[in-house]
Amino acid sequence: AAALPEGYIARSLRLSDYEAGFLDCLRVLTTVGEISKEAFDERFNWILSQDTYYILVIEDTNTGKVVGTGNLLVERKFIHSLGLVGHIEDIAVAKDQQGKKLGLRLIQALDFIAEKVGCYKTILDCSEANEGFYIKCGFKRAGLEMAHYY
Ligand code: ACO
Repeated sequence: AAALPEGYIARSLRLSDYEAGFLDCLRVLTTVGEISKEAFDERFNWILSQDTYYILVIEDTNTGKVVGTGNLLVERKFIHSLGLVGHIEDIAVAKDQQGKKLGLRLIQALDFIAEKVGCYKTILDCSEANEGFYIKCGFKRAGLEMAHYY
């Protein structure tokens, strides 16, 4: 994958990203709620114990702030000879940083990990408004999302 613009790095999520604006970055995507440092740490440590999640962030190295994030979950199946499926979730780029290809680089990095760990495909759900973005990332429309909210 091509490089990030000057002044940005991509890396795995860290505990200290709680203070670096990780949750604020996610707020461009949806409701996050009020999450204490203790609750954040507990969820982070559980996620780390799973060997299933790859949570990337993009850091603005001038400010130390998280300005982008994305998650890959690797689902382990019985079908397709114990096949692995990647699920891309919770992609967010801070409002004032959109349009710099940070979203594209996040997807490329997550896609690279998925292929590397042996996924036979990677899927994601998005709104119609984001279809064009994912097409530029190499995805194509497939199937239909159904949801049951509780
Ligand atoms: N529709 C059509 N094209 C788009 C869109 C869009 N909504 N958004 C970006 N593009 C295009 C860009 O113009 C660019 O095209 P180019 O290569 O011809 O110049 C290309 O896609 C790459 O765009 P980036 O600059 O990488 O996009 P950005 O960094 O702004 O990130 C994102 C896109 C993640 C959708 C961002 O706008 C965002 O965070 N939005 C709010 C949260 C959100 O909707 N997240 C996705 C939810 S779906 C999920 O998480 C699985």
